[in-house]
Amino acid sequence: MKVLVTGGAGFIGSHVVDGLRSQGDEVIVIDSLDPGVYQYPPDYLRADVTYCFADLRYWRPDARFDDVEAIIHLAALGGVSRAAQEFSNLISANVAGTARLVEIAKTWSRLEKIVLASSFSVYGANYMYKCPTCSKVTTGERQPDALAQGQYQVLCPQCGTVAEIMPITEEAAPGPLEGYGASKYMQELCFRGFSACPVHILRFSSVYGQRMRVFDSESTIIARIAGWITNEQPPKLFEDGRQIRDWVYVGDVVEAILALLTEKAAPPIINVCSGVPTTLVEACNLIAEAIKVQCFPEVVGGFRAGDMRHCLGDSTLLSNLLERSPMQLSEGARLAFSRQEEGI
Ligand SMILES: NC(=O)c1ccc[n+]([C@@H]2O[C@H](COP(=O)([O-])OP(=O)(O)OC[C@H]3O[C@@H](n4cnc5c(N)ncnc54)[C@H](O)[C@@H]3O)[C@@H](O)[C@H]2O)c1
Ligand SMILES: [Zn+2]
Repeated sequence: MKVLVTGGAGFIGSHVVDGLRSQGDEVIVIDSLDPGVYQYPPDYLRADVTYCFADLRYWRPDARFDDVEAIIHLAALGGVSRAAQEFSNLISANVAGTARLVEIAKTWSRLEKIVLASSFSVYGANYMYKCPTCSKVTTGERQPDALAQGQYQVLCPQCGTVAEIMPITEEAAPGPLEGYGASKYMQELCFRGFSACPVHILRFSSVYGQRMRVFDSESTIIARIAGWITNEQPPKLFEDGRQIRDWVYVGDVVEAILALLTEKAAPPIINVCSGVPTTLVEACNLIAEAIKVQCFPEVVGGFRAGDMRHCLGDSTLLSNLLERSPMQLSEGARLAFSRQEEGI
């Protein structure tokens, strides 16, 4: 199969490219090598892949693209703070870039499938919580006064018990809270009415693995934790460090994408997450164990405005696609972070 991978020079894209090549697919990449991401081209680019270094927004395809059979659309500028600092650039790279791709893709006669990389950020704060005592279901809203007093948990409004997060399903209404999440939802919407071939939307939780940029200004919390621990500096955690997050191993992301290329009956939207609640403190311990250093997190308290107490996905549809459960951080950390592996 001839596959176009947009964003194929990036963290996830490079693993997707490796996966496609190892099963014998022909790969063509479009990547802008965005200067906010790279100072120079990454050293893992491959000689057996065609790279077209172009920005999707201004891209003019040549004959090399005429026989593309599948598109894996990963190109996007990332990050909540980048979205705040460069709002119009990020919206235009992600949304106008996707619109350009849609415009061109619909003219390709051999196209069979499109996979779009979306994000849990499209869900915004639409996570629901359930009280283990009285079963009342509530939102994750927290009051500024309570947060200021160090009460970080979401409490049941009926009986005051600490409420538990319910894994979010693909049915939850999107409600992005900031520019990056909005741009990812707009990327999804760009494919409304697209009829040239099936389109699958994968909403990634937070992805970890080799080649993750650990000290980028947009690094995710797991990347930062890995960077701190590698440098034997204690990770600094807000609140009480018991915030739950859902991390997915990059190998599972690749496997889901490859499975979708041949799967005929997959659902149109799939959460790509582990479905396993892991606290920040637990993540620090698992990563320190994988790196084989003694490094204990420092819980500094305080909170960041707009942070959600917990994030957790329902991975049922992903498990169906993979025909197994996704990897937990306890397993994935060894693959991603142990020093014998390729550098993080
Ligand atoms: N890493 C995560 O935890 C995570 C979580 C949720 C969703 N995602 C999504 O997965 C995709 C890949 O993420 P990643 O972590 O590999 O990011 P990355 O920054 O490593 O890779 C993205 C690549 O896209 C390229 N790019 C950006 N805008 C472009 C444009 N307009 N035209 C051409 N190329 C462009 C960049 O140069 C970069 O190489 C993105 O769509 C991202 O929104 C990632
Ligand atoms: Zn209750």
